[in-house]
Order: sequence, then C-alpha cells, then structure tokens
Amino acid sequence: MVAAGRSTNSKRINEYSTRSAEDTVELGKRIGAHLLPNDVIALTGRLGAGKTTLIQGMAEGIGVRDYVTSPTFIIINEYQGRIPFFHVDLYRLNNVDEIEDLGIEEYFSRGGACVIEWAEKLGELKPKASHEIEIEIISETKRKICVSSELAARLK
Ligand SMILES: Nc1ncnc2c1ncn2[C@@H]1O[C@H](COP(=O)(O)OP(=O)(O)OP(=O)(O)O)[C@@H](O)[C@H]1O
Ligand SMILES: [Mg+2]
Repeated sequence: MVAAGRSTNSKRINEYSTRSAEDTVELGKRIGAHLLPNDVIALTGRLGAGKTTLIQGMAEGIGVRDYVTSPTFIIINEYQGRIPFFHVDLYRLNNVDEIEDLGIEEYFSRGGACVIEWAEKLGELKPKASHEIEIEIISETKRKICVSSELAARLK
C-alpha cells in the first residue's frame, strides 16, 4: 500500500493505492483501529469500487468479531467492537426524505463509529464534521483511496 499527500480544492487529503482486495482490507483495519466514538465516515465510490471491502477491514480494526456482509436490503447494521460500529448502506434509497425517515441522525451521536456507503445521497443530512473516504477504480485490481486529512493524520 502506497501513501502520498496532496491538496485538492484546498481540502487536504491523503491518497493510498491498493493492489488487491486484501490490501484494501488491511487499510480498512488500520483506519478501524483509529476510529473514535461519534466519528462519521462518508464513503463514496461507484459500484464495485471496494466500499464494503474497506468496511470489512474497518470492522476488524475496531474489534468486531462477527462481521458478515449483509444482504443489500438491510440498510443499517449494528456491530459491537471496542466501540459500537454502524454500517449504513444507502444504495437502495432514493431521496433525503427516505434517509431521514431511517432516523439516521441518531446513529451519528450514539457513541459509535458510523460508516456510510453511497454517502453522496445524504445531501444536507451529512454532518459537517464527517470524515471522507473516496475509492476510485484504477484497474481490475488497483484502487485509489482518498482519505480526508484529519482521519489520515491519525494513521501516521
Ligand atoms: N484493490 C481492491 N480493493 C478493493 N476491492 C477490490 C480490489 N481489487 C479487486 N477488488 C474486488 O472488487 C470488488 C469490490 O466489491 P465491494 O462489494 O467491496 O464494492 P462496493 O463498492 O461495496 O460495491 P457496491 O456499490 O455494490 O456496494 C470485490 O469483488 C473485490 O474482490
Ligand atoms: Mg457495498
């Protein structure tokens, strides 16, 4: 896994390159180990980018023992590790009203770490203090993973 720093639109981010799903799980573990209560992580990237793969690692890093990828119709999953871990997948939701009806905002301040797949759908519901992770597909096995600076700084 290779890391490089750069600046985009004045918001500093850190860039990681992974060359396999296992590599992405490893990065996820590192991130998970550094998550704190009430962290919200907004995760973006197209279908098959590796969002769930990264989250699997995050769950491990947070100390969740029984993480299983759930069926897509389950929108919010709750796990217990060193702190609670909430995995939200907004893929099947169509608008901010549907998302608000989930009571999603409660999960942002329940003392756990909350990671959200398809976070671009949150619109104005996205907390200002969210960390951001974007995964870009470079090739079949290569991914570029951009982590916002405050979270990335914890990984050093
Ligand atoms: N470097 C890599 N990092 C992550 N996944 C990779 C990588 N290389 C190949 N893959 C493969 O890409 C796929 C990623 O699937 P995953 O379910 O994690 O994506 P996703 O972004 O959650 O998709 P969806 O939008 O459908 O939820 C897996 O099949 C994984 O094995
Ligand atoms: Mg997924």
